[in-house]
Amino acid sequence: MTQPLLIVDALVKHFRLEPRGLFEAPPLLRAVDGISFSVKRGETLGLVGESGCGKSTTARLILRLIEPTSGSVALDGVDVLACSKKELMALRREMQIVFQDPLSSLNPRMSVGTSIGEPLRFHGLADQVERFDRAREYLEVVGLSADYYDRLPHEFSGGQNQRVAVARALILQPKLLILDEPVSALDVSIRAQILRLLSDLQGQFQLTYVFISHDLSVVKRFCDRIAVLYLGKIVEIAESETLYREPLHPYSQALIRAIPEVKVDGPRASSLSGLEGDVPSPVNPPTGCRFHTRCPHKMPICSEQEPPLKDMGDGHQVACFLH
Ligand SMILES: Nc1ncnc2c1ncn2[C@@H]1O[C@H](COP(=O)(O)OP(=O)(O)O)[C@@H](O)[C@H]1O
Ligand SMILES: [Mg+2]
Repeated sequence: MTQPLLIVDALVKHFRLEPRGLFEAPPLLRAVDGISFSVKRGETLGLVGESGCGKSTTARLILRLIEPTSGSVALDGVDVLACSKKELMALRREMQIVFQDPLSSLNPRMSVGTSIGEPLRFHGLADQVERFDRAREYLEVVGLSADYYDRLPHEFSGGQNQRVAVARALILQPKLLILDEPVSALDVSIRAQILRLLSDLQGQFQLTYVFISHDLSVVKRFCDRIAVLYLGKIVEIAESETLYREPLHPYSQALIRAIPEVKVDGPRASSLSGLEGDVPSPVNPPTGCRFHTRCPHKMPICSEQEPPLKDMGDGHQVACFLH
């Protein structure tokens, strides 16, 4: 059996916040609190959960854009967190990210062609002429015309700019692409086109994806497996189909029940049917199972002990005392 491309093990990120008073200890915000998962080559793993549950922090930790509190990340057998600066540069070519808002990730004064070729310049991989040719080639790879090279981002629609962001991420021929809510900022009519593009590119370039979304209806068709996050913890991992057919964790069940209501993109999936209250603060997360304060099936043990992620067979894992 070949080794997974990405292995994340017991990853933790606590942010130290400003103390509220002169004599107060600075509070810790537990953004990511011990998560483990792996992604096989060519696979798409979905990371889903409500806004603030630690999805983007996980993405930034994997790419080592921020340093973890503890835990490890391995890409293709290489320990990302033990790398020197020089090794990290080389490793960055292998993993790229596409953000939610293409406009904020593109330089507004730089032509889209120059932006696409920029990673080649940064890594010293091509001279100006080569960069021009490669950027034109990648404009076509993402379904745009090579003649758009000189256009500026404001001349493009959101969907076109997201194509540019994808081209820029792919030009280094990475193995892993992290897609952080890549269609959440786009019109509903454009989303399917971008998802189809991503799906085609995955086959064409043998890409492995981590697909982040707060909206379970988007990840359903797109992902092979899904990890459900709640307040910095994974509560369930399963193959997509299994998760939709028989979600085991009450939180996954609520997310799935809520799908018809989250057609419209809100900042927070607050319409979770059957769930009371808001997501608690990650500064003072509930004891035991973090979901117990909103869980319709709460038992005494749930506020006392933390449920371990338990294997239910076929790679289906769930952290819940009901199982
Ligand atoms: N640099 C930071 N400093 C302090 N808190 C942060 C920082 N980045 C993220 N957070 C907090 O970490 C939690 C998780 O954030 P994030 O990973 O962006 O969530 P998601 O992407 O799932 O919406 C949130 O409570 C957020 O406010
Ligand atoms: Mg996010």
